[in-house]
Amino acid sequence: MDVVREWIRAAPVAGAWPVRLDRGTSGGYTRRGDRVRDEKTVSPYDAPELYDLVFEGLDFDVAFWNRVARGAGGPVLEIGCGTGRILLRLVEAGFDAEGIDNSEAMIRRLRVKASERGLEVRASVADMRDFSLGCRFARAVCAFNSFAHCETTDDQVRALAAARRHLRPGGALVMHMSYPGPRYWSEPDGVPVLELEMVDPAGGRKVRLYDTRTKDPVAQLQRSVTEYRALEPDGRETLLHRGHTSQRWVYRFELELLFRAAGFARSEVFGGFERQPLTLPDEQMVAWAWTES
Ligand SMILES: C[S@@+](CC[C@H](N)C(=O)[O-])C[C@H]1O[C@@H](n2cnc3c(N)ncnc32)[C@H](O)[C@@H]1O
Repeated sequence: MDVVREWIRAAPVAGAWPVRLDRGTSGGYTRRGDRVRDEKTVSPYDAPELYDLVFEGLDFDVAFWNRVARGAGGPVLEIGCGTGRILLRLVEAGFDAEGIDNSEAMIRRLRVKASERGLEVRASVADMRDFSLGCRFARAVCAFNSFAHCETTDDQVRALAAARRHLRPGGALVMHMSYPGPRYWSEPDGVPVLELEMVDPAGGRKVRLYDTRTKDPVAQLQRSVTEYRALEPDGRETLLHRGHTSQRWVYRFELELLFRAAGFARSEVFGGFERQPLTLPDEQMVAWAWTES
């Protein structure tokens, strides 16, 4: 799904969730004649328990989003909030924050986690390219490459314009995206890349996320087959879930133009979470775009 391979590590995730085994289908019909979904329409976000098992413990960006929320001086909207890796931490820290995500499964999981933690969280199923919550926020945040799921320029502008319409005057959209450089684009296609590996606290086995990519550098597109596999104690790997997704990477000056096309008054682009300049490819890009005061 993502290109930040340095995050590969083997560590237990805080909190244990039962993992539903969900084997990939081949599309068409089962032997019993039941209709099954075409495999290509299955998304990695259809397996939110596995997403959490692998990603919930990632906290490399949590302090940054806390700072963004603290500086907002008003309510915060997370666009593409998923299962609440960031959003629930913001609500837990006492910020007035809510989220949207277009995956019903991810939002359902977020709500279960919120109720387990005794938190009241506003989270809606909505498409970032076209949503209307009927209220405005001091800041909108789009973390962990969620914006890369807008695959066309039209989708990108629609998503940014929808975010802008939800901001108060002088409000800011803050976005984190990976910044794939030449090394990434020249990696061979079709080779499973181990992105992350975590110990499943329920079973003691390891759960691995592999990403098999086909890249189109001209279209700035990465098509991925994502596979969650379990590494059993006897060394066998078994498939838990297979999904398909695409991401369109966006570069600095293009993003600045997209912000303008979507009606933002000004923007700034950094090369990481500490406001450092963006100087090298393969860094993390953090972009801010402000509405007119
Ligand atoms: C990489 S996950 C990030 C989730 C969460 N922000 C985090 O940091 O763990 C990307 C999220 O974007 C959501 N997403 C993809 N396309 C979307 C769209 N058009 N509208 C809203 N959410 C979308 C996915 O369902 C997924 O939850």
